[in-house]
Amino acid sequence: MLDDLLDIGVRCDHIGNSSMKLAWAVWSDHRLLVTGEVIYVHTSLATRRPEPVPSSVRAQIQAQAEGRPVTQLRLGRWDELGSAARDVRAVVFIGEQNIPAHEEWDADDAQALHAVVLNGAGLALATGRLITLGQAAGQARIGRMAVLRSMRGSGIGRQILQALVDAARAQDVRTVILHAQTSARRFYESLGFTADGDAFDEVGIPHIAMRLDLRP
Ligand SMILES: CC(C)(COP(=O)(O)OP(=O)(O)OC[C@H]1O[C@@H](n2cnc3c(N)ncnc32)[C@H](O)[C@@H]1OP(=O)(O)O)[C@@H](O)C(=O)NCCC(=O)NCCS
Repeated sequence: MLDDLLDIGVRCDHIGNSSMKLAWAVWSDHRLLVTGEVIYVHTSLATRRPEPVPSSVRAQIQAQAEGRPVTQLRLGRWDELGSAARDVRAVVFIGEQNIPAHEEWDADDAQALHAVVLNGAGLALATGRLITLGQAAGQARIGRMAVLRSMRGSGIGRQILQALVDAARAQDVRTVILHAQTSARRFYESLGFTADGDAFDEVGIPHIAMRLDLRP
């Protein structure tokens, strides 16, 4: 039916030398509707011949099957994490949201603490940054929060935001502020941020100021 909520499961049943078999199933309200399987063969684009499944892919599938984490959160400076952060921001902000490149890259990147989530193959999935606004002000600003579209809704954004808030707390910051795109307001509210004032325009997108007090 049109309004049915579907549960879709995918499992890797077998990895051979160059092939992988994925089994699929779709349920509605615990009723199995359909199953299927897809066999992928890993090939080289250069030679167009089958090639062994890369060990990084095997390791990720193995970790997933065993319930181990398949992503890794890293915190660091622009010289270590800039390339990973840049990849995600270019796709999300410049590619998807049409923000001009000259608005995206600024001098704050050099002094910010960056958070990045990588998958087991080293591909960057999400990022965000924390800028400390001076000890006297006791404030820090979170920004450039972005998760690749295919990974949204799986808790990675929350993981990045929580890591940046924890880093701010460790630096004795009193208040974390941010400018949220109004479409993401509920995301920030789910981690305790509250809206401050009316919506305003920034880079052509409606935003709202939000804050989180870390100390009374
Ligand atoms: C906003 C964004 C960073 C959220 O990341 P995400 O990985 O999808 O979020 P999570 O899966 O960690 O969600 C955490 C919670 O926030 C909620 N949430 C996430 N995005 C939301 C949205 N746009 N509106 C309402 N709720 C949202 C989730 O439902 C979840 O709540 P739950 O735990 O009660 O289920 C991501 O959607 C994104 O990159 N968007 C495009 C870029 C962007 O707009 N960045 C924000 C700039 S201010």
